[in-house]
Amino acid sequence: MNYTDLNIMKKILFVCLGNICRSPGAEAVFNALIKKNGLEGELFCDSAGTAAYHVGEPADARMRLIGSKRGYDLTSRARKIDPNRDFDQFQYIIAMDRQNVRDLMGIARNKNERKQIFLMTDFCFNKTYDSVPDPYFGGDAGFELVFDILEDACEGLLRKMQNKV
Ligand code: 4NP
Repeated sequence: MNYTDLNIMKKILFVCLGNICRSPGAEAVFNALIKKNGLEGELFCDSAGTAAYHVGEPADARMRLIGSKRGYDLTSRARKIDPNRDFDQFQYIIAMDRQNVRDLMGIARNKNERKQIFLMTDFCFNKTYDSVPDPYFGGDAGFELVFDILEDACEGLLRKMQNKV
């Protein structure tokens, strides 16, 4: 990668509460799309949580299992969002639910940073959900639903990033 690539790269940070279920799932789904479309030099994504409960842990085992059945590799370790770095590093901070949006609005340092915050489900084009529901305290169906929504939203996000919509 050279400096030109770095300048044109669009960087996206997916954010949920714990960074062990939804946002690492979004990262894995979007990375698979980046790879499939040969966009490694143009798009980069990462994930973080608004809370520190699980910092350093791998993604939830249920997420990893259901993800692997769909061909996704969830390899990230949980970290908490760092407002002093992440709003500078990532142009797009994409929250999984409305509470995440509120928490992010609270830690953004100014109006421009607040404009970097988006809601994941706003990129959906087949499904009509107003959040990616937190699956942590529920059963497997909740994890499957998370992936269904993420696959739709990531496809929509990619199209937006490529200015195809
Ligand atoms: P996530 O799910 O925000 O999608 O990573 C959760 C993970 C952990 C907890 C809540 C939600 N928790 O309360 O520990």
